[in-house]
Order: sequence, then structure tokens, then C-alpha cells
Amino acid sequence: MTSATESKAAAPLRVLIVGGGAVVLEYQGPSAREAQRLGLLEVVGVVDRSEDRLARCRGLFPSASFCTDLADAPEADLALVATPAGSHATLAIDLLRRGCHLLVEKPICASAADAQAMQDAAERAGRILAVGHFRRFFPAIDSVRAMIASGVFGAVRRVVAEEGGMFRWPAASAAFFTRQEGGGGVTLDIGIHMLEVLVSWLGVPEVVDYADDAMGGVEINSAARLRWPGGAEGEIRLSWDVELANRYRVEFERASVTWRTGQATDLLIEIDGVPAPQLATSRRAHGSGPEYSIPQHGYLGAFTAQWKDVVEAIQHQREPRVTSRTAGAALSLVEEMYRRKRLMDMPWLEPDERVRALAWAEAA
Ligand SMILES: NC(=O)c1ccc[n+]([C@@H]2O[C@H](COP(=O)([O-])OP(=O)(O)OC[C@H]3O[C@@H](n4cnc5c(N)ncnc54)[C@H](O)[C@@H]3O)[C@@H](O)[C@H]2O)c1
Repeated sequence: MTSATESKAAAPLRVLIVGGGAVVLEYQGPSAREAQRLGLLEVVGVVDRSEDRLARCRGLFPSASFCTDLADAPEADLALVATPAGSHATLAIDLLRRGCHLLVEKPICASAADAQAMQDAAERAGRILAVGHFRRFFPAIDSVRAMIASGVFGAVRRVVAEEGGMFRWPAASAAFFTRQEGGGGVTLDIGIHMLEVLVSWLGVPEVVDYADDAMGGVEINSAARLRWPGGAEGEIRLSWDVELANRYRVEFERASVTWRTGQATDLLIEIDGVPAPQLATSRRAHGSGPEYSIPQHGYLGAFTAQWKDVVEAIQHQREPRVTSRTAGAALSLVEEMYRRKRLMDMPWLEPDERVRALAWAEAA
């Protein structure tokens, strides 16, 4: 490592935030402040086309500069791209030209082809491209990854993952629910989180079947069957309006492990031969034995852990935990699902309604 890089590693990285909307106000902004407090970074600027949005971000970063055009933004080492997905690729390539490393919010961008172009541009520029799949920083998600990789419970036979409830994200405008602006519905919005986690655990599956309820607009409910090369089967269900079980259940040869969505540290483990399910809370090793371990970070702490990972990846010239490989693979799976989509069974439709629904879905 050069002495210049060493001195940079010691100083907080200068961060530019591009897009100051809901995800920045609720999650990324407060966690960047926490990372700032830890001496990892300093937010030097926020860019948003909307003066209103900029005004709302001023309280988070009083000493940063604020502008509506990227051309007027201060120099930075790292940029967070937190605009709608359709603009990620263009902004990422502009920011790489300015010499920035990147943390791009999920989904990485609007198409798998753009994701590849972003990765190629990052490699050419010698910059890191990290993707904001913050759940990968949940200790529970990482524990499941280790259980799969170690083979401690044998091979995975089946994964059943369900996630859904009433849509509540505060940023959603009417445009968010159009294909043009949003790019897709629940499969893209929530499914991308789920698929990225599944890809990181088990590799890229084949899409065996996919159905959703879109008839020209975006899908509100969807279901898919997946199969991994090793033979593991997957069943997933997603919804923006039905309260689903909100759990991922991984069935191994000798145990089943259940992760409840939103739980950063806890897993339910059923081990063959042990009659009662066990609640396991992931802890961080600290002293000489497990009884001296300490609590891990929770849900919001995962965003701070993500900032820390990206900063350390830049300083130590290593890969970030979430790269475009898994994020791009998850996006390719969503594209594959949309390509082979069939209309979901909706037994509550009258026969003539079903005929019209099929015609609309096919026309779309
Ligand atoms: N990690 C998560 O759990 C999570 C949660 C919600 C959203 N997201 C992702 O974060 C991103 C932003 O979502 P959001 O909910 O904050 O959206 P939002 O609409 O609230 O904010 C987007 C902001 O980007 C600004 N903007 C748009 N184009 C711009 C451009 N070219 N240059 C500068 N500013 C521009 C808009 O004015 C707006 O303020 C999306 O990719 C979304 O999928 C991630």
C-alpha cells in the first residue's frame, strides 16, 4: 500500500450523497451521521434536483454543501446514489468519471445490462462499486450464510420465503406504481432484497415458474418457484397488500432454520433429534468464551455496518460485502421472472372477469 493511500485510510472519507429522498432521511442519512461520529467519513455534499428535499436534509448535515446539479457538487472519495433506479446507471458512470467510489442503493439499476455497464466502468476506473442491500449486514442473515457454507446441518433441500403486508413506504408517489417510473412492482421492490439474499446464500437459481397479478400496471402480488444447480428447491411469495408469514425457512438435511423478516439477529432453529425449537440470537465474540460475547447491532445498525464495510473496502482495497455480482444476478432473476410471467390464479374472479384479466395481462 502506498503512503498516500495509508494517509487517506486514516482520514475520514469525503462522502457525496446524490438523491436526498426518503431512504436518506430515514436510514442512510442517520447512519452516515453515526459513521461520521465514528470518524469513518464526512458527508461533504448532498445533491438533489428538488430544493424541498435538500431543505429536509440540511438538518442532518449542517456543514455539508447542498446543490441541485451534480456539476456543482464538491469533490468526494465516495458517493451514495439514492435516486430512483432508472437514474442509477447514468449517475454512477458520471460519478466514476469524477473519481468517486460508489455505494448504490438497491436495486443496482433498472436493467441487468446497465448493471454490467456499471461494473465495467468501475473496473476501468479502478473504483469500488458496492450495492445497498443492507439486509446482508443483519447478523442473522450472515449466520444463515455460514450455516449453509459450512454444511453443519447438511445440504439445503428447500427454501420457503414469504414477505408481504400493506405497502407503507412514505416516499411512494403515484408514479412509483407505474411501470415507466417504478420499473416493476413488488417483485422488483421487495423481491430484489429477497433474491439478493438467496443468491448470496446459495448461488444463482433457475426460475421454474413465476406468476403475478399485473394486468398492465405493476404487480402487487407474485409467486415463484426456483431450483438451484445442487437440487435445492425454492418457493417464494411476495405481496404489497396481503399480510404474509414474513419469514424465510431454510430446510437442511438435519435441521430447519427460520429467519423472521425485520429481525436483525434472531433465528429459530429446529434440529433433528432435539424436540423443541431453539431461539438463537447472534452475538459477537469478545472474551475467551461464548459467555463473554456481546450483542450485535440491530436493524438500523446494519446501515452503519454497510457504511463501515464500504469505507474499509476502499481503505484496504478489497471487495465490499455486497458487489454487483449478487445484486446484478438478483436483477437478472427479476427480469427473467417478468419475461416468463403468467397471470396468477385468482379464484375470486368470475369466468368473464378472468377472460378479460387474461387478455389485459397478455396485451401488457
Ligand atoms: N435499502 C432500502 O431498504 C431502501 C428503502 C427504500 C428505498 N430504497 C432505494 O433508494 C432509492 C431512492 O428511494 P427513495 O425511497 O429515497 O426515493 P425518493 O423518491 O424519496 O427520493 C429520490 C430522490 O432523488 C432525487 N433525484 C431524482 N433524480 C435525481 C438526479 N438525477 N439527480 C439528483 N437527484 C435526483 C429526487 O428529487 C428525490 O428527492 C431507490 O433506489 C430505492 O429503491 C432502498
